[in-house]
Amino acid sequence: MFEDYAQLQSHVLCAQDFEVLAQTKIDDALFAYLSGGSGQEHSLKRNLDAFNEMTLTPNSLENVADGNSHWHYQEQRFSAPIILAPVAHQTLLHADGERACAQAAEALEQGMVLSTLSGYSLEDVADAANGWKAFQLYAQPRQQDSFDLIHRAHQAGYQAVVITVDAPVQQVSLQARHLGFKLPPEKPINLRPYDDLPTPKIKPDESYIFQGIMAQALNWKTLQNLMDYSRQLGLKVWVKGVLDPKQAQKLQTMGADALIVSNHGGRALDSAISSLEALPTIRQSVGPEMTLLLDSGIRSGQDIFKALASGADAVLVGRLQAYALGVAGALGVAHLLKLLTEELQLTMALCGCSNLQDIRMINLGDNNDV
Ligand code: FNR
Repeated sequence: MFEDYAQLQSHVLCAQDFEVLAQTKIDDALFAYLSGGSGQEHSLKRNLDAFNEMTLTPNSLENVADGNSHWHYQEQRFSAPIILAPVAHQTLLHADGERACAQAAEALEQGMVLSTLSGYSLEDVADAANGWKAFQLYAQPRQQDSFDLIHRAHQAGYQAVVITVDAPVQQVSLQARHLGFKLPPEKPINLRPYDDLPTPKIKPDESYIFQGIMAQALNWKTLQNLMDYSRQLGLKVWVKGVLDPKQAQKLQTMGADALIVSNHGGRALDSAISSLEALPTIRQSVGPEMTLLLDSGIRSGQDIFKALASGADAVLVGRLQAYALGVAGALGVAHLLKLLTEELQLTMALCGCSNLQDIRMINLGDNNDV
């Protein structure tokens, strides 16, 4: 689509330009799978509305000449508080798939989270780039298989495990299903070493959702086992998919190193609160020191600023990453990260913030009741 970086730069001026281009380049059913949400898409819409409705107050006379957008997490310094979210099946979008995303994140000094359901194996992605990487875990029905995945991620050099808790059962977008979209039939590459589980036998009066899927889902006890195992190996543990302040507090007590406030981009429980709306009370409940990340609805650098002003330390981007990858592979994702960083820095400058700490101190005013 683009001959070189100069051409890409001249066409893609903001992150959402990638969405427009992706729609023309990617097959309709696949695009519907990426862009859509679960159910009637109430949460998907709410994610975007929450950001668009939030206002900011300019503050122009502060001296920000020494400013930067660096985010420090543990010993790591990221050039901006932006991490590539786990997005499954990326080789459907581009032949280089997750390897391209890992390379883009490394080049821009940012981080990435690799999905359990990646197109390349977790070992292959680790070989592709040396930057900061976390492995996202969908807990497997057999605990030993989850332990094995965590062990492999540790061996391959991932620094953290991100355990996703909000999608034990999930609906693909209605529009994608209407268009005939189907996920690849093969077992995802990371899961191939594990024997097939016997299909659960459901009696006629039993439910496939309860007795079939949920009987094998993560619960507080099994989550604690996975967290303990990861921490024994020296991995940081992040829990993804938290919207409830009480749940956040409990996870903090259990030893989570970070929480990702997320409604899975409107792809899990439809009518769930948006993560931006949920964030301030979660920040209050876990206190100022706990690392909190947010995803679901980030479409610009201004949105990143708003998330940080509402209590997040950093954000993740899901769909934007998928669109950029589909449009231009590693170069596209690198350009996306550059655009988001510049937009964040521009917003910081106009709001008188010279570092991320200044954003956290902002008084949001009465117009915003998020
Ligand atoms: C996702 N997401 C996701 N999350 C996860 O924990 N594991 C996964 O494998 C996937 N796969 C996935 C595929 C696709 C196509 C999308 C769009 C999303 C959710 C993702 O990590 C993130 O929470 C949302 O995408 C954030 O919302 P935005 O940035 O897309 O609005």
